[in-house]
Amino acid sequence: MPTFGNGRRVAIVAGVRTPFARAGSALKDLTAIDLGRAAVAELMQRSDLDGALVDLLVFGTVVQSVVAPNIAREVSLLPHFPKTLQAYTVGRACASANQAITDAADQIALGHAHIALAGGAESLTQVPILHSRGMRDVLVAASKAKSMSQRLAIFAKLRPKDFIPITPAIAEPSTGETMGQSADKMAKLNGISRETQDRYALASHQKAAAGTADGRLTAEIVAIATPPAFEMLASDNGIRRDTTYEALAALKPAFDRQYGSVTAGNASPLTDGGAVVLLMSEERALALGYTPLAFIKSYAYAAVDPCEQLLQAPVLAVPVALQRAGLTLPDIDLVEMHEAFAAQVLSNIQGLASKSWAARAGFSDATGDVDLTRLNVMGGSLSIGHPFGATGARVLTTLCNELARRDGKFGLLTVCAAGGMGHAMIVERT
Ligand SMILES: CC(C)(COP(=O)(O)OP(=O)(O)OC[C@H]1O[C@@H](n2cnc3c(N)ncnc32)[C@H](O)[C@@H]1OP(=O)(O)O)[C@@H](O)C(=O)NCCC(=O)NCCS
Repeated sequence: MPTFGNGRRVAIVAGVRTPFARAGSALKDLTAIDLGRAAVAELMQRSDLDGALVDLLVFGTVVQSVVAPNIAREVSLLPHFPKTLQAYTVGRACASANQAITDAADQIALGHAHIALAGGAESLTQVPILHSRGMRDVLVAASKAKSMSQRLAIFAKLRPKDFIPITPAIAEPSTGETMGQSADKMAKLNGISRETQDRYALASHQKAAAGTADGRLTAEIVAIATPPAFEMLASDNGIRRDTTYEALAALKPAFDRQYGSVTAGNASPLTDGGAVVLLMSEERALALGYTPLAFIKSYAYAAVDPCEQLLQAPVLAVPVALQRAGLTLPDIDLVEMHEAFAAQVLSNIQGLASKSWAARAGFSDATGDVDLTRLNVMGGSLSIGHPFGATGARVLTTLCNELARRDGKFGLLTVCAAGGMGHAMIVERT
């Protein structure tokens, strides 16, 4: 089985992100473009790379700005780069940065590019809020009115319901089910108790607090001066060092208020942030004197019916990525699994150990048991936060850096995404 690139290896050279901040908090005055630019500018600075050598910038974002829909292009207009830099935006819900990374890697593997920046950014504070259809029709008609009296007559048609705005929903367009409801459903279907979820969430916060205190997480972060007072934010502000099992257990269910087990404590918080990785062909990295953190060994995407277990598709992507890499789960030294919800992580782990899920991916044996001591060793999205479009680049950066610190060889990352989609990538250090 040829591994990714057909002989052209794609190196992950470096990764940087902004601090992740709970929506409406420290980064609330920055747009997704600002957050993406901050991460990219810092990456260019740290890697001391001439911007003229960059062939491509690919970015992901989920809740798009209606006035600047190609965030990648806006980020690429930083003074670091020539205006001729190719830049485009991709979307695969919470795996959008992963899509950006695999798109850029594909371009390098094809020989169309040698150096690419790939990542994503999200402001879940500055979300677009739309007018209702009634209000929109009236505004459009009023803009075409020929006189003040005509305009007033058009505005007179407005009814109270026309003033109700439309806000972005974290719900499936096809089913209307929110992510939280899906996680509740998965907890019930897979028998994941509230206690197991809360204990998992507690461990996520404890590991992220340790990773922040000893500098492993903060090493990936560019400190940001946050307007209006321009105080510095140098670490993620959602990590609760002092949380306890009792505090988590006391929280009320957030979605299914009567029978649910998903709470604000065992769900990832709405978050603002940006993240980016620097990818190079092995040949160019070596020619320029860079030491790659790791190489992309393989990747896979998968999908399930959104009506079923919305966040379970990584379970189908992992065995395919492993097969493409010629590896099995015990070969993996470190696993980074995006934590949308504790119930989803625990369901994914259960699914990977199940023969019936493996069969659905076309394999006769279960993928295997995830070694929990190698999983999300510095916490994950539950504690660090989850700016939808940025998370994939954060996860890949953390995986590569920690793999290097531990002198490991193979790393696996997984990300679940809206629409029932999932992603897995395997990286290799040589
Ligand atoms: C779950 C959710 C609705 C909670 O939103 P929220 O109510 O604004 O959350 P808050 O941060 O205000 O937390 C609510 C309460 O829980 C408490 N809390 C949250 N996490 C806690 C923790 N780890 N330990 C102790 N208490 C905690 C907060 O202190 C707050 O308490 P208060 O009401 O006394 O102030 C929101 O985070 C959400 O929608 N998350 C899911 C996002 C999603 O779907 N993402 C897609 C995944 S792919």
